Amino acid sequence: MLIHSASQLLTLAGGPQRGRSLGRLGLIPDGAVLIQGETILDAGPSEVLKQRYPHEPGLDASGKVLMPGLVDPHTHLVWAGDRAAEFELRLEGKSYLEILAAGGGILSTVRATRQAEPADLLAQTRRRAAAMFRHGTTTAEAKTGYGLDVEAELRLLDALLRLDAEGPLEIAPTFLPAHAIPPEYPGDGEGYTRLVVEAMLPALPAWWRSHAPGRPLPFVDVFCETGAFSLEQSRRILETARAAGLPLKIHADEFDNLGGASLAASLGAVSADHLVKTSPADIQALAASDTVAVALPCTPFGLAEPAYTPAQAILDAGGLLALASDLNPGTAWCESMQFVIALACRTLRLTPAQAIAAATINAAAAIRRDRAIGSIETGKQADLILLGVSDYRHLGYRFGTNLVTQVIKKGICYDVD
Ligand code: NIG
Ligand code: FE
Repeated sequence: MLIHSASQLLTLAGGPQRGRSLGRLGLIPDGAVLIQGETILDAGPSEVLKQRYPHEPGLDASGKVLMPGLVDPHTHLVWAGDRAAEFELRLEGKSYLEILAAGGGILSTVRATRQAEPADLLAQTRRRAAAMFRHGTTTAEAKTGYGLDVEAELRLLDALLRLDAEGPLEIAPTFLPAHAIPPEYPGDGEGYTRLVVEAMLPALPAWWRSHAPGRPLPFVDVFCETGAFSLEQSRRILETARAAGLPLKIHADEFDNLGGASLAASLGAVSADHLVKTSPADIQALAASDTVAVALPCTPFGLAEPAYTPAQAILDAGGLLALASDLNPGTAWCESMQFVIALACRTLRLTPAQAIAAATINAAAAIRRDRAIGSIETGKQADLILLGVSDYRHLGYRFGTNLVTQVIKKGICYDVD
């Protein structure tokens, strides 16, 4: 299939974009892309590709932007229920960590998720996955974290594998047993950390080999935060995971700075996420590493908090910056990376071009898939989107509506409007 005559083709070619190089779109006016099966075979000016491939069936993209599918590298996709009542409590003055300390917050979603019938849990999660896909996300990372015991956490991982197999949204799973301290360990973060380190993480590789043979191992993440896991507990969890060959992620500096971002850099984590209360020294440590800094602007927005990730300082230091939704029922129920881009332009002062690179090729790097997805280059997976606008800057400029008209996933075209 030859997709041709796009008013702007954004290739994002050339790999992840560090520091001030962020925003290289590889823009080709009147662009075209040749796809065969699941793979991109060629990309360039329409005139050239039409001559090169005169007999290919065509898809006319006139008046549209053609670009890589959006990649969402941080979601808590699988849960049951909602926390609408808690949203109201927060607006009335209760803080997120106060609600968690009183047994609500993440723990209320843990109760709902543990109790849900497996088919119902899948149906609720599938609806969100479908909404993400309609809004242009072609690959998403997705975490467990609402089970918090061996069996329930593995059940959530299994649900993610099932949804990934169903498609079309492709899922990169993350194991997050250290998301909160479960009700079975009241006030005993130490006891639960021991369970994570001595039972949950050791069970994971063998479980994975039998349930997802041949697939790369899932990420392991930890919520390093006051009221969740201390820096030392986070270190033990991540070091145990690393010794088992599992790639690492961390939730760091969302509310307090415990040193999680520097820990991530020192352990060679794939990404460090949130990074609101991150210090200049942490930013230097991240920038000197290959750990991707993932900003989640929906989270402060969802919590109505004033502080956002210091994205400009991260770019000045030469860090690798990506964007993600943090889709979850407590702080950020948002399925749209288009909205994330719009928020990032305003709250992180990114240009649309920078935000688009952070939500495609750099987001792919944040899940170690930048060799397969995140840009339009020969040999890469054919994951693309078409926007019903002729100028890419409408992404960022506009918000609250869906600009995507078609999503192409592994070479199959889905109409979404
Ligand atoms: O990334 N901070 C921890 N986890 C989520 C919130 C999860 C929840 O509140 O259910 C986050 O913001
Ligand atoms: Fe999160």
